[in-house]
Amino acid sequence: MTQLTIAIAKGRLHAETLDLLSLAGLGISSETISSRRLAVEDESGRYRLIFVKPTDVPVYVEHGIADCGIVGRDVLLESEPDLLQPLSLNIGACRIVVAATQNPPANQPGILRVATKYPRTAARHFGSRGVAVELIQLSGSVELASVLGLADCIVDLVETGNTLRENGLMIIEVITDSTARLVVNRASYQLKADAIGQLVQSLEQTMEEASSD
Ligand code: PRP
Repeated sequence: MTQLTIAIAKGRLHAETLDLLSLAGLGISSETISSRRLAVEDESGRYRLIFVKPTDVPVYVEHGIADCGIVGRDVLLESEPDLLQPLSLNIGACRIVVAATQNPPANQPGILRVATKYPRTAARHFGSRGVAVELIQLSGSVELASVLGLADCIVDLVETGNTLRENGLMIIEVITDSTARLVVNRASYQLKADAIGQLVQSLEQTMEEASSD
């Protein structure tokens, strides 16, 4: 029996991913969902799930430790890993935006200070517009940078919009949309073609059924 290892992003996508995989036929018990174990097998033994930080999903898959992974497009745009992306999933919908406490974001002339967890995405965005920016890389609570004046604006992910609203920020511009993607290691795609094909088919079928409900 071929076993597939799937890297699952902890955090915002975690619960939705496990729900989707359960609907697609993986035997994921409630004990697994609530446990703190970082690597578990599903009930059939055909799948091993490993739980890692979102930005580490492409790393595990690219190195072949995981055959595939489920991770947001936001993460993939940032790290541009050498992976196959056979399926866009209907979970984790969000947007990557430019946001600030005021519009336009800065009054003073000069270089725009941009705080973000997504430096490459932000650099590409402002670069394509010919806007000179100073990028300030943060790892979380990015909204604070705009509120406290560390930056003129932020490039960050928005899902419900609650964090922006509750901190007095507004969307200046939407850079792109993001949903979760199934990513696959190039060698695994060849060597475990049948198992990966089955997983892709089950996920597709699950999403079709969900959209026709
Ligand atoms: C993300 C993002 C925003 C927030 C947006 O942060 O960076 O801060 O979620 O979500 P909302 O639109 O639903 O309010 P995350 O929760 O991943 O935590 P972090 O700030 O520590 O990165």
